[in-house]
Formats: sequence, structure tokens, C-alpha cells
Amino acid sequence: MKKVLIVFGTRPEAIKMAPLVNKFQQYVDTFETSVCVTGQHREMLDQVLRLFEIIPDFDLDIMKEGQDLYDVTSTVLTKMRDILHTVKPDLVLVHGDTTTSTAVALAAFYQKIPVAHIEAGLRTHNIYSPWPEEINRQITGRIAAYHFAPTQLSRQNLLDENVPDNNIVVTGNTVIDALQWVVEKIEGNNQLSTEIGEMLNNFGYDYLRLNNDKRLVLITGHRRENFGEGFINICKALKALANLYPSVDFIYPMHLNPNVRKPINDIFGDGKPDNIFFIEPLDYLPFIFLMKKSYLVLTDSGGIQEEAPGLGKPVLVMRDNTERPEAVEAGTVQLVGTEYDKIIAGVSLLLDDENHYNSMSKANNPYGDGESSDRILEFLIKKLNN
Ligand code: UD1
Ligand code: UDP
Repeated sequence: MKKVLIVFGTRPEAIKMAPLVNKFQQYVDTFETSVCVTGQHREMLDQVLRLFEIIPDFDLDIMKEGQDLYDVTSTVLTKMRDILHTVKPDLVLVHGDTTTSTAVALAAFYQKIPVAHIEAGLRTHNIYSPWPEEINRQITGRIAAYHFAPTQLSRQNLLDENVPDNNIVVTGNTVIDALQWVVEKIEGNNQLSTEIGEMLNNFGYDYLRLNNDKRLVLITGHRRENFGEGFINICKALKALANLYPSVDFIYPMHLNPNVRKPINDIFGDGKPDNIFFIEPLDYLPFIFLMKKSYLVLTDSGGIQEEAPGLGKPVLVMRDNTERPEAVEAGTVQLVGTEYDKIIAGVSLLLDDENHYNSMSKANNPYGDGESSDRILEFLIKKLNN
């Protein structure tokens, strides 16, 4: 029986790998599957592991506050050496563009173990944006034997880099598998709505505020290239918007990275408008619940650009470019960058102009049909058992 090792380390990788881990568990007669988490994230990773009931076989537990890219890369690389010697997998599965994914791919390459890359082929072609993710995914793509591309465009990016077509499979994005699972759990579950309401209350947001059709702007941010000036602009723009639109609520579940929290403390520490709420990072389920309730989403996140269009929510992306142009072309996602004026103008237009809002809020989903994990399994069953 072939041995497969699935490795991930951060919140978004966990969300996107969870459906695949669950799928592999249905094939115990075909694959001997182990799960290793690097622990690049801790609390935010554990939230996802709990939700999807994943108990890792190995946990490298590498997170240390304030560690830099050298620390993450070198610790994952050396700790993976021992895991790979122990497990001796026939294939290692990694996801996307984090430093975990690239360091693991490199560790596998050093032992000549083939790598499968999930969410392959996304590109901006600018190695500093997003940084370091663009080069992470390019390196992982060079090492990988098998490439699971979410869209035709990502497949084309790989073909342009001379990746052989028969090693690329267009699968959709597994985030839609995860999203559909969560949405199914939420819909019509009144008990769950009550529990989430109580949780938001505990986080300092009175959930009853969302009655009476109150409009909600959901915000997230964490990109390294936005640290410093970018985040200061974002916080100043949020303050101005909350004052300009007192009847709208602004909720920002804050990433745990201290570089994200510092400007928030600096700018809102002396007092904040009553309609803006900074809360702890939410579990995936309440986060999607809130996204479903929201009017629009303001973010620099990758995964949220894929989820929100599926729920018909307009997304303003606080970046200058995106490796996910499909939803921009479809009209639900728009780039606003991190300039103060542009953020205010983008949000104001959506809040003030109903026609513009309606043109962006049509549900569309270029990222999959919820069956990406099945396609990945189908390919690997054929490939590894021949
Ligand atoms: C990482 C990924 C990024 C991904 C993002 C998703 C890299 C280089 N970056 O960025 O691609 O989009 O995750 O969120 O791979 N922290 C905690 N607890 C947590 C998580 C983070 O305290 O559960 C704090 C720690 O101080 C940690 C810091 O955040 O050192 C930064 O974490 P790190 O994984 O290096 O970077 P992210 O900004 O989270
Ligand atoms: N998310 C979450 N709780 C939050 C904020 C985000 O569960 O408080 C989810 C979100 O739905 C998406 C993923 O986390 O699936 C995105 O993670 P992040 O923005 O940290 O990383 P990126 O996608 O940019 O790599």
C-alpha cells in the first residue's frame, strides 16, 4: 500500500487541506495516510483542526512569537528531515504558498520523495508581491511532480513554465469543498446561530445589532508587504469610514500577528468609533456565518477572495495585484490597494450606490464546485497504483 504524508502549518492551509484529509480517510485500503502539521500557526491552526476533527500524527510545533522567515524555513526544513526518515512516504502533499509548503517540498526533494502541490499555478509574476508567497509557490511548483491547479488559468501558468500537461489536473479549489461543508452545517441550524451569537457577544460584539437589516463590513488583513505604512493607512481609512457611516457596523477579526495588531492599537488605542469592533480571530464556522451576514468584505486575504464571491459578497482587496484574477474578471472582486483615499472611495461607492453594489454582489464561483478533493484522489489513485 502506498504511503502518503499530508503536511500543512497555517490556518488557510488547514482549511483547504481538511477536505482532502477527510477524503483520504475514506481510502484506508488504498493509502496509508499520515498528517503532519508544522505548527507555523498555533491557535489559528488548532481552531481548524478542532472543527474538522483532525488529529495530526506529527506536530513540529515550530511557532515562536516574533520569529522571522529564516527561523520558519530552517526549523521546518530540519524537523521535516526526521519525519521523512521515519515515515518514508511515497508522496508528500503540500498546499499553496506558505513558507511551510516550500520548506516541506524542499525537505522532500532532499530525500527524492515526490511532491504533490495543491492549489498550484497561481501567479502574479512579481516576486515581491505577495511577499514571500509568490516565490514560495514558484519554488514549490518547480519541485512538485503533480500539480493540482484550481482553474484553467492556473493550469496555463504552469504550462507556460513548461510543466508537462499530463502532470497537471484542474480540480477547482478545495476551499469550496470546505466552504460548502460549513455552509451546510450553518443553514437552518437555529441552535448553532444562537451559539455563534453568544460567542460574538463574548468577543464584545452585540449580535442583536445585526437585526433590522444593519449593514456589516467584514475586514481582515495580514499581508507582510502591507506591514508598516500599508496597515497604518488601512486603520486610518477604517476610522474615517466608521465615522462617515455611523449606521454601518465594521467588524475586524484580527490576525494574531503582532505586526497586524500594533497599528490597530496605535490608531484606536485612545478610543474608537462605537460602530467598529476589533475581535479575536474567529473559528472558521462563525467566520463564514459572519461573511454570510455581511454586506461587503474588505481584505488582503487570499482565501477570502475565493470564498466571498461564492456567497455573492463584493470583495475589495487591499493589494495592488492578485494571483486570483478570475473573480476580478467576473466582477465580484475589485483591487483597491492600501492608499487611504482609495479604500475610502471603494467602500463608499459600494455603500452609497445600489446599482454598483448589485453589479458586484452577484454570486459567482470560478473556484470550483465542491468536488476538488474527489478529483485529486481520483488522479492519485490512478497515478500511484499503476
Ligand atoms: C502566514 C503565511 C502567509 C499566509 C498567512 C495566513 C508565510 C511566510 N506566511 O503569515 O502566506 O497567508 O500565514 O494567515 O508562510 N501568530 C500567533 N498565533 C497563530 C498564528 C500566528 O501568535 O496562531 C503570530 C506569531 O507571533 C507568529 C506571527 O503571528 O510568529 C507570524 O506568523 P507567520 O506564520 O510567520 O506569518 P503570517 O503573517 O501568519
Ligand atoms: N478565516 C477564519 N477566521 C478569521 C479570518 C479568516 O476562519 O477570523 C478564514 C477565511 O474564511 C479563509 C482563511 O481563514 O478561509 C483565510 O486565511 P488568511 O486570510 O489568514 O490567509 P490567506 O488566505 O491570505 O493565506
